[in-house]
Amino acid sequence: MNIDSCNFLLEKIINRIDTSPDKKITFAEYMDLCLYDWEYGYYTSNDIKIGTQGDFFTSTSISPDFAQLLGIQLHQIWEISGKPQPFYLVEMGAGEGTLASNILVFLSEYYPDFIENLEYIIIEKSDALKDKQKCHLSKNLPESINVKWSSLDELEDNSIVGCFFSNELIDAIAVHLITWKKEQLQEIYVTYNEGKIQQVCDVLSTHKIANYFQTININFSATYPEDYTTEVNLQALDWLEKVANKLKQGYLLTIDYGYIADKYYHPQRFQGTLKCYYQHRHHNNPYINLGFQDITSHVNFTALETYGLQYGLSNIGYTQQALFLMNLGLGDRLNQLSYTKLPLPEILSRRNQLHNLINPQGLGNFKVLLQSKNIDVEKNKVILQGFKEFS
Ligand SMILES: C[S@@+](CC[C@H](N)C(=O)[O-])C[C@H]1O[C@@H](n2cnc3c(N)ncnc32)[C@H](O)[C@@H]1O
Repeated sequence: MNIDSCNFLLEKIINRIDTSPDKKITFAEYMDLCLYDWEYGYYTSNDIKIGTQGDFFTSTSISPDFAQLLGIQLHQIWEISGKPQPFYLVEMGAGEGTLASNILVFLSEYYPDFIENLEYIIIEKSDALKDKQKCHLSKNLPESINVKWSSLDELEDNSIVGCFFSNELIDAIAVHLITWKKEQLQEIYVTYNEGKIQQVCDVLSTHKIANYFQTININFSATYPEDYTTEVNLQALDWLEKVANKLKQGYLLTIDYGYIADKYYHPQRFQGTLKCYYQHRHHNNPYINLGFQDITSHVNFTALETYGLQYGLSNIGYTQQALFLMNLGLGDRLNQLSYTKLPLPEILSRRNQLHNLINPQGLGNFKVLLQSKNIDVEKNKVILQGFKEFS
């Protein structure tokens, strides 16, 4: 960890606090600076974040099987959409570009007709990661496969026929922190006092937070303990509305860790879901290792479904990653290992990777949500491979 860089980020945060009207900023502003400040933010520096040498694993970093099985689902989506030309795959929050390259290499080998009609767009917030993605893809993709980068705002409304998708995007979006005190919802702000970053509580910074709880039908009441603390991801809702507007016809596939609202905001989950990751250890202090640790929170899938309906999306499927990947053939891949002639250590390592993707205590318990716009929902529910009733 570079202490200078930590201190520079701290200076920027203090400056933001000093220049804000009440000498305090929302936790969401603070978290956004820690993760995405263009100079010192966690996701904007050039260090490795994901994988063995980074701070955390994602399914993408575990094994190319994840991308390949996802590729099978994306291909089926294209087929049941009537094979539109062009068909857009829009990946949001592409990390180091590994998911994109693994999907595209797999599709070009197994579904060349799909690749011929495909436009692959990456939407990435971090400029440093955009550079890494460009470098990674130029090394790993044949020249004939073209990937474009765009911001969501640059895409025209109602212009995309295809599928927007993300893996672990929403957990990396800055959240508001709220707390239940004296039978009232209050917000947690970040301030700087006596040489220290400190938290203070005050009235909610926006009425959107109260509306949010009404919309997802969560009523704070006497059953919630004093100082119950949790998160609200308002930026994710803005993102969802924009994606819905860009989509002319097609799908939005979201893979991430999280719960439905009743579980997320269960009174017993009194410290919320906010976590920090630093070198594969997690803890719950977002005020240390500034710019050198990931800060993340779980996804409220009920909010995505409920607001999605308001923004013109339909809910097609919601399942666990383990079931999704088994439906798409992960079990067959495990079986095939019994017949392969690979050396034993390789077989064991590959079996381990596949098990990790479906481990019910880990990645297998991630959720997969599929939403759509201008699609025959009932027909899709029956035939979408990843969302079949598992038997
Ligand atoms: C936890 S990483 C996931 C990386 C990758 N999808 C994977 O499977 O390994 C989160 C990614 O989302 C990006 N990100 C966060 N907010 C974003 C936004 N609003 N738009 C686009 N990308 C965003 C981060 O910069 C990072 O690339």
